[in-house]
Amino acid sequence: MDIKNLCIVHFALYSSKMRTLFTAKLFLYILFFGVLFLVYKILIDYKSYSQNLSGHKFVHGIVSKWLYSKVQNRTKQAEKKLDKKSVMKYILQWTSASNSPFVYMGKGREGFTSRKCPHTNCFVTSNRSLLGDMKKFDAIAFCGTEVRYYTKEMLPLTRSSHQKYVFATIESSHYYPVCTVLFDNYFNWTWTFRLDSDVRWGYMSIRDKNNNIIGPNKIMTWLKPNKMDSVSEEFKNKLKSKKKAVAWFVSNCYDKVGRRACALYLKQELEVNYNLTVDIYGGCSPLKCPSPHIKDCFKMLQDDYYFYLSFENSFSEDYVTEKLLTAVTNNAVPIVYGGANYTRFLPNGSYLNARLMTIKQLAAKIDELIKNPDQYANYFQWKNHYSYHSLDEDPETDEYCRFCAILNDEEKVNKISYIGDFRKWWNNPNFC
Ligand SMILES: *[C@@H]1O[C@H](CO)[C@@H](O)[C@H](O)[C@H]1NC(C)=O
Ligand SMILES: *[C@@H]1O[C@H](CO)[C@@H](O)[C@H](O)[C@H]1NC(C)=O
Ligand SMILES: *[C@@H]1O[C@H](CO)[C@@H](O)[C@H](O)[C@H]1NC(C)=O
Ligand SMILES: *[C@@H]1O[C@H](CO)[C@@H](O)[C@H](O)[C@H]1NC(C)=O
Ligand SMILES: *[C@@H]1O[C@H](CO)[C@@H](O)[C@H](O)[C@H]1NC(C)=O
Ligand SMILES: *[C@@H]1O[C@H](CO)[C@@H](O)[C@H](O)[C@H]1NC(C)=O
Repeated sequence: MDIKNLCIVHFALYSSKMRTLFTAKLFLYILFFGVLFLVYKILIDYKSYSQNLSGHKFVHGIVSKWLYSKVQNRTKQAEKKLDKKSVMKYILQWTSASNSPFVYMGKGREGFTSRKCPHTNCFVTSNRSLLGDMKKFDAIAFCGTEVRYYTKEMLPLTRSSHQKYVFATIESSHYYPVCTVLFDNYFNWTWTFRLDSDVRWGYMSIRDKNNNIIGPNKIMTWLKPNKMDSVSEEFKNKLKSKKKAVAWFVSNCYDKVGRRACALYLKQELEVNYNLTVDIYGGCSPLKCPSPHIKDCFKMLQDDYYFYLSFENSFSEDYVTEKLLTAVTNNAVPIVYGGANYTRFLPNGSYLNARLMTIKQLAAKIDELIKNPDQYANYFQWKNHYSYHSLDEDPETDEYCRFCAILNDEEKVNKISYIGDFRKWWNNPNFC
């Protein structure tokens, strides 16, 4: 072994010894400081907790602390969850609570719980001082038929930019125009039958075969009649019981749009030229539905009549009421008369529009369809693909539920929106 190598071996031996020693020392130091730190930490903990947990034993205090933090953590998380679900949304009815649609909202949460809404954390009141400060209400709702006569002094004096001021009405603008300038740049949301309302006071929803809600909507993509399945023989047989031309159930003899005159003219036209007629049932006609139950009247419509007059009492954009539902859910072809663009409500080839033809043409068409059962049956092809429902049939579409639902829709709530030219939005052209 030469010296060089010996040196290396020595050095190696020496350094490995030194390393072991160093490591051992380091280990001891670390252990020492570690224990010191632990003792220090425990003392600090004990000190801070002995104030809250005085009288507790030292170890007990540590365990309690750990348990305490666990429990507190869980409680906090539970509270957070609860918070999201149940932060109450307060709705103030500014106008009379006895007017539609407010009267059906109920008091407090009742209207939402009784309807089994997906969201029930909305609270309805007409007590303006309920929350102390009016600015604390999430939404303030104004009934359109009343507020249109209000002066500035009758409206809230202060307003928070977070609040939603809601224009609510079930009536048509034709009967209840709003002509004052007070409501320009005023309402954030609307609750009406118009299809562009934030909450739709609708009379119907339209579903496809898979039960998805598809309408009514401004833009509808209906199946074209030649793409629809044809009417089954079974259904055609059902239609064979029909013997009478046209029915109309009407309680209100007055209207703004000449619907009664139109119906009487059609009746005369059918009688004189086709030995057919319009049977008018209700308050302003000698004919009465033979049963006090509306269900029986609908059965009569289904069994006996080819057509039903779905005539509205006034013309407004999208103003289509349950009169349409009466026809389509009772296997009668609707003859519509209203201010709406009906392509938003009905597929082509399922109805007749009395405003798009003369009464003479209408009478001729009625006669033609009655004489051609196959052609008439085609007016029900849509039934293979769509169905009509009232909104309150389902909490998902119920309008009161919808009101509470949009107050829970953070994106919608946080979005700044309001109607600038309210008179233009609401009223029929040149109506004020
Ligand atoms: C509380 O719980 C959350 C989620 O379970 C967890 O991430 C967090 O570390 C916990 N905090 C304490 C102090 O235990
Ligand atoms: C309205 O709410 C306030 C505050 O809760 C209450 O003091 C007052 O009695 C209520 N008024 C009515 C008419 O219920
Ligand atoms: C009715 O609405 C449809 C679809 O939005 C549109 O294509 C059509 O032009 C409208 N008709 C009238 C008369 O406004
Ligand atoms: C008119 O129709 C009725 C049945 O609705 C029938 O009894 C009568 O004979 C018809 N009259 C004519 C002239 O066809
Ligand atoms: C609706 O159908 C009729 C024929 O049934 C057709 O003449 C008319 O052009 C169609 N209208 C639209 C908008 O598709
Ligand atoms: C509500 O409308 C008013 C003006 O009409 C506006 O200043 C405010 O920012 C709107 N608030 C929300 C939350 O949309």
